[in-house]
Amino acid sequence: HKHLIDIREYSSEDIQTILHTADKFRAVNERRIKKVPALRGFTVVNMFNEPSTRTRSSFELAEKRLSCDSLNFGGSSTSTVKGESLEDTVKTLCAYKIDMIIVRDKRAGVPRKIADISGVSVIDAGDGKHQHPTQALLDLYSIWRHFGTLSHLKVGIVGDVGHSRVCGSLVPALKIMGAHVTLIAPKTLLPAYPEALGADEVTSSLDDALGDLDVVYMLRIQRERLEGAPYPSLREYNLLYGLTREREHFMKDTAVICHPGPINRGVELDDYMADHPQRSLILDQVYSGVLVRMAMLYLLLGGNDESISH
Ligand code: CP
Repeated sequence: HKHLIDIREYSSEDIQTILHTADKFRAVNERRIKKVPALRGFTVVNMFNEPSTRTRSSFELAEKRLSCDSLNFGGSSTSTVKGESLEDTVKTLCAYKIDMIIVRDKRAGVPRKIADISGVSVIDAGDGKHQHPTQALLDLYSIWRHFGTLSHLKVGIVGDVGHSRVCGSLVPALKIMGAHVTLIAPKTLLPAYPEALGADEVTSSLDDALGDLDVVYMLRIQRERLEGAPYPSLREYNLLYGLTREREHFMKDTAVICHPGPINRGVELDDYMADHPQRSLILDQVYSGVLVRMAMLYLLLGGNDESISH
């Protein structure tokens, strides 16, 4: 592959390779000197036109740990605010002879457009409500590390499915790897055609579904994308769909909790569940973000294998 824009272009073998490469980088990352020369001489542009904590910081760390040069670019500090087009912006960056653009943008489809304009490798770091493929891969990695498998795991994805680019990548990625996926949401927070995502089941009752799940994947209520008064209200949402301490009794003893972050504490998750020492994989997901992004940079740019084999 040259790009990571649409996870549906990746096979289960491709995803296995990514997970195993991330595992190799776990060993690198746990050394005191965490840096390897695998991508020395490559230049990557981090173009973040929307806010980010996890994705941006983990890409930057991944780039440093692989010894590539990176340029942080985007948002209100660029000449985009003077009216420069995306096309001219990308052509300008490419004049520096860069090797890759990692892009986050509120407009769905921008990563593909940049790939067409630039001719360099592109990673989608989240585009509008469309996809967020590295998030899906880090989720798979955390779940795979925890259970030792992905196939036949029962995963429930709970909440704001309709606005979720995480879902746009995670549902197909889980299906490619043989998991069973249930979407759990009020009808108002589902897309018009939820079946188009490819999940096995759709339900509006968290309490009915919870007892069967191995992984309870809580989505963030995207207040910034809700137009007008949200329905249900945040309080109603918490009562019906919040993963609260009281709901733990419905969960399997072995079930774990995931969330892509940032968390709305007290809305989709209470503190007890978000910080649950046995069940919460949330900080493990954050750590997996560096490993999986190292793997993607390495695989897409064709790094030097010797530097990670010892
Ligand atoms: N999960 C995620 O994409 O978080 P950020 O928006 O902080 O990058």
